[in-house]
Amino acid sequence: MNGQLLRGIDYAIKVIPRLMKNYLLVIPNWILLKKSLKSHGVLKLKPFNIGLWHHGFFYFTGELNKKAVFLKIDKKLHFLQNEYVAHEFLREKVKLIPLVKFIINKSSQIAIFDFIAGESITERDIANNAWVSEEIYRILMVLNTNGVFHRDIKLENFIKRGETLYLIDFTFSVGSDSCPVSFKELKTGVEVERKILKHLGEENKPSELVWNDFHSMSLLVDRALLSSSKGKGAKQWNIFKTHLSDRNMTYSLTKTSK
Ligand SMILES: Nc1ncnc2c1ncn2[C@@H]1O[C@H](COP(=O)(O)OP(=O)(O)O)[C@@H](O)[C@H]1O
Ligand SMILES: [Mg+2]
Repeated sequence: MNGQLLRGIDYAIKVIPRLMKNYLLVIPNWILLKKSLKSHGVLKLKPFNIGLWHHGFFYFTGELNKKAVFLKIDKKLHFLQNEYVAHEFLREKVKLIPLVKFIINKSSQIAIFDFIAGESITERDIANNAWVSEEIYRILMVLNTNGVFHRDIKLENFIKRGETLYLIDFTFSVGSDSCPVSFKELKTGVEVERKILKHLGEENKPSELVWNDFHSMSLLVDRALLSSSKGKGAKQWNIFKTHLSDRNMTYSLTKTSK
């Protein structure tokens, strides 16, 4: 059997059960949510990419004040408050997707963002456009300088619209000791949280339970350029790369028992 077929089967085994479970969840959640969000002015609620739903996180689109919005809903772990913390702290320092409303109640946390009709970046975007890695570098520099570890630097967490790049998904971000705001942190001692920690940052982190956003960026860009090293992105990247070792802010959970 060839590799592509095996990868396809592996994907189906992982994704189909989740998709079926999420479809069963969608109906009751949708009806209840529709009602409660209407009172917050959100109309035309529709499930968004059900295959992405995980760990009690649901995604919807809707309309608020006649503007398209994206809703991220956290019904289980209640870590979405980190999106609010990150946005309040960083929004004047770096261009983020506007967080229009944050709703918190006993059973759920709901973040309502402007809907961005863009695409996640691809390796080709990085390889062919110098400005993409330049922007990633600039965004991470702002986070780094302000003591924020994003911890999930990967292609899917950058959305590109035209020539604007947005970093998203601060749900499991953390702050350094010098960071003036406090994030809710996943704990290694709680089984479900440990599982998330294991996957957070995927293969882009230095080692298990250790995160370094510039290290992740380095792996990401190197991988993208490997396939087309003559692309316009390569030259600029080689300049940035020499500065990355100065930015070695690492967050580790291996020495602590949080
Ligand atoms: N404001 C937005 N507008 C449009 N799509 C979005 C927006 N925010 C996130 N998305 C899409 O939803 C996906 C999941 O959002 P994300 O916050 O990264 O959650 P997850 O924890 O599942 O990775 C993103 O990869 C992106 O495709
Ligand atoms: Mg994400």
